[in-house]
Amino acid sequence: METLTVFSPGRVNLIGEHTDYNDGWVMPLAIDRGTTITARRRDDNLLVVTTRTVRNETDSVALDALDAANQTGWRAYVRGSAQALLDAGVALVGADLTIESNLPIGGGLSSSASLEVGVATALLRLAGVTLPPTEVALAAQRAEQEYAHVNCGIMDQLAVAAGQANHATLIDCRSLEITLVPLPSEVAVLVVDSDVPRTLATSAYNQRRIECERAVTIMQQIDPSIQSLRDVTSELLATAVERDILDDIAFRRARHVVSENARVLAVAEAFRSGNFAYAGELMNDSHWSLRDDYEVSGPELDTLTELLRDLPGVLGARLTGAGFGGCCVALVEQGHIASVAAQIVPAYNSATGRSADAFSTTASALSVASSQ
Ligand code: GLA
Repeated sequence: METLTVFSPGRVNLIGEHTDYNDGWVMPLAIDRGTTITARRRDDNLLVVTTRTVRNETDSVALDALDAANQTGWRAYVRGSAQALLDAGVALVGADLTIESNLPIGGGLSSSASLEVGVATALLRLAGVTLPPTEVALAAQRAEQEYAHVNCGIMDQLAVAAGQANHATLIDCRSLEITLVPLPSEVAVLVVDSDVPRTLATSAYNQRRIECERAVTIMQQIDPSIQSLRDVTSELLATAVERDILDDIAFRRARHVVSENARVLAVAEAFRSGNFAYAGELMNDSHWSLRDDYEVSGPELDTLTELLRDLPGVLGARLTGAGFGGCCVALVEQGHIASVAAQIVPAYNSATGRSADAFSTTASALSVASSQ
């Protein structure tokens, strides 16, 4: 019987944080760590899933009784991905899945999107259905929103589904248009896990979305055609300040999104022109904006990025993902990557008493292999 092996990458976001659900731009890359799923078709309509990552637990359920909205933990993502495909009209078949991940769980590298997209890809292949990456990503996003109850944007699922080797994925989150940006060999991407759990991340995340929506409603007093913060320019923001219509929180959330959108496009341009020092500066600016205006950093992430910036060869460093803990990303000159990875861990551990993990990563695409 045919066995499929799906590698579904995690993602690290180079820049463009909390912009996706504001219809803006992001520039993540799919990475060489992720979720590996082996999958075999069954003759009945059961979905039987074993995870090697979470204590070898097994979940066995009929496809017509998934009850996805009432699950917790990894089951919510797996059953939610299956249910999202059923909702989209895909005729699924019974499957045995075995799941293994080498991503930090809940660490800001999209372990959940990697799982959702991986499960969806495996189930689609077993059902003999081909969907474009954007459709797979949208189904995985619905799994996260409706069944795992996180009101996320599209960045993670689309980066995982559409990312390519050796490229960052510049995404226009309004049109979902993807532009691949080559990652040149002069620079390397370092990920450092801060060892800070993302407590309350979901409620704070959903809260930020509500604050952005409030800012949009207020900005519509100036221009009723504004649909999201993507439509707000720095000139419109200045007008709002002159008229004193935005409260402090709404203003700072909007200022982060408006400035971050500009930084994403500038980083993509800096990569194309080989100006990596400037790309690094923009990554630093992104961190400070997330710390001061968006308020999703924390003492450890601030310390970690400061220590990184002090090391020779580091061009820029910032928190990556939703924030409130998790990982940081640094852009590093290729020749310095090993020494930066070796130095940052003891420096951070002794400054904070935590236990960091640092690894360089390369952009890698989702893949499906088949064997008999
Ligand atoms: C999480 C969400 C994404 C995005 C980031 C912040 O990873 O899943 O959609 O909003 O946070 O940029």
